[in-house]
Amino acid sequence: MVSPEQFALAPDLTICRILNGMWQVSGAHGPIDREKALASMAAHVDAGFTTWDLADHYGPAEDLVGQFRRRYAAERGEPTLAHLQFFTKWVPRAGPMPRAVVETAIAASRRRMATGTLDLLQFHWWDYADRRYFDALTRLADLRDTGAIRHLALTNFDTERLAGILDHGIRVVSNQIQFSLIDRRPEVRMAPFCRERGVHLLAYGTVCGGLLSGRYLNQPEPRGSALDTASLQKYKRMVDVWGGWTLFQELLSALDDVATRHAVGISTVAVRWVLDRPAVAGAILGRRLGLSDHRADNTRVFAFALDAEDDARIEAVLAKSRNLLGAIGDCGDEYR
Ligand SMILES: NC(=O)c1ccc[n+]([C@@H]2O[C@H](COP(=O)([O-])OP(=O)(O)OC[C@H]3O[C@@H](n4cnc5c(N)ncnc54)[C@H](OP(=O)(O)O)[C@@H]3O)[C@@H](O)[C@H]2O)c1
Repeated sequence: MVSPEQFALAPDLTICRILNGMWQVSGAHGPIDREKALASMAAHVDAGFTTWDLADHYGPAEDLVGQFRRRYAAERGEPTLAHLQFFTKWVPRAGPMPRAVVETAIAASRRRMATGTLDLLQFHWWDYADRRYFDALTRLADLRDTGAIRHLALTNFDTERLAGILDHGIRVVSNQIQFSLIDRRPEVRMAPFCRERGVHLLAYGTVCGGLLSGRYLNQPEPRGSALDTASLQKYKRMVDVWGGWTLFQELLSALDDVATRHAVGISTVAVRWVLDRPAVAGAILGRRLGLSDHRADNTRVFAFALDAEDDARIEAVLAKSRNLLGAIGDCGDEYR
């Protein structure tokens, strides 16, 4: 039996539905102090946010996890680590994908993260025309079957290629993609397909780097150095394509009305909205560990529900936005 805060991604893998995202320790989101970051990681875990999302290329993220795991085991006992989940990604450069290449990459992540088994390995691939991603996934599935990886997953694959991978007989539990009030592309093809085939979605960009929060309500359009994290820059570009700052203010205003009705913040409504979408297992929120802390707001996500009146208020604004599927393409196409 899992609580509303949790989701069974697989029979042996239960996660917190709000995952801690670690792209924010990579250097492009402000300076991270290692000790403060480790203390903040412990505080998140103690508040119930037990699931972490990182990648081989997020700067020191995998090493930080390794250090955290060692310390946590020493202080609280090795068995307590079983209550935490650490999901990494492998984002290889194009090239041949023989067994040795795949094994070396996975061994490096296991070593850095101080674990014999990766809880979830999410695979990214840049170029669909290069069909060697099937070689890589076949080898990764072998590593899952021999225990180096507990579960295999994808990130930023579109619906067509996800279908091809499943039809190839390769089992994946989830696909990590951008999904927010601004980026609703997954609702068109990805989510219905995932529901049909039993694949779960892990959403990122849920609060658009912080743009979807009270901090930007009634504020002039941020530009240049005001967008001081890689995340804010990325999602400001999405907002521009989606409909621009004036419409975005209209959305923030509608969200503020909804948030006020429930005595929560705008970002809390934005996260709740994504968690309520079909096929969504969890929302990954970027953590600037030791620099900011949103645990209190995030806990409130699990303590209220959006109703039909809220949905209508939000939908009235979203209906005016541009069709991002037409403008950008399906999930992950922004990387290709
Ligand atoms: N697979 C991929 O290609 C991919 C791409 C992007 C991200 N991701 C994953 O998703 C994670 C999320 O990153 P993101 O770039 O999408 O950022 P995000 O989660 O949309 O934004 C995170 C930022 O939002 C601000 N914020 C405002 N209200 C908040 C609230 N209530 N709760 C939490 N944060 C709030 C915080 O800014 P302040 O710190 O300034 O307060 C925080 O740093 C990454 O760390 C990574 O794990 C994956």
